[in-house]
Amino acid sequence: MIVIYPGSFDPVTYGHLDIIDRCSKKFDKVIVSVLDNKSKRNMFTTEERVELLKKVLEGHDNVEVDTFSGLLVDYAEKKHCTTMIRGLRAVSDFEYEMQMALVNKKLVNDIETFFMVASGKYAYLSSSIVKEVAMFGGNVSCFVPEIVEKALKEKIKEGY
Ligand code: COA
Repeated sequence: MIVIYPGSFDPVTYGHLDIIDRCSKKFDKVIVSVLDNKSKRNMFTTEERVELLKKVLEGHDNVEVDTFSGLLVDYAEKKHCTTMIRGLRAVSDFEYEMQMALVNKKLVNDIETFFMVASGKYAYLSSSIVKEVAMFGGNVSCFVPEIVEKALKEKIKEGY
């Protein structure tokens, strides 16, 4: 089975990688799709987010990194894939995730959303938290791979 794991990944964290890694062991192929959303102020461009994901996912032969814009269901149709993966970190994620899953199902009845419970050790993580810690000079090495840590430092040096 092929699944899509969509998100902003601004930037990818160990929390996302935990979900991707576990999915890649359960499904034949995982398409990690970066939302190309020009209206959201991201720290990293879509191309940079894709590049970082590709680098940290080297060696995962059944994982593809891609981008999409517009509706997720339209993208899913183009990829001939009807199963979406979303991670659940805490009860607070549930309402938003339920809403998205139900809207997607209303739009295309064939679409299914599979929820994966985030590993406890990453349940507190978010990309915003990582960016905030990095911006105040904190150590983010336990939240993101080294290459992402370096990219964060460069962005901050550039005055993000
Ligand atoms: N580990 C760590 N962090 C996680 C995580 C995990 N397992 N799962 C989610 N997060 C964090 C992310 O880091 C992100 O943090 P941030 O808000 O601090 O940046 C946050 O949870 C949510 O991010 P993400 O999973 O990337 O979702 P999103 O809300 O940015 O985007 C899409 C979700 C892309 C799936 C959704 O917006 C979409 O499908 N958009 C297309 C338009 C569409 O079809 N709309 C109709 C459907 S409602």
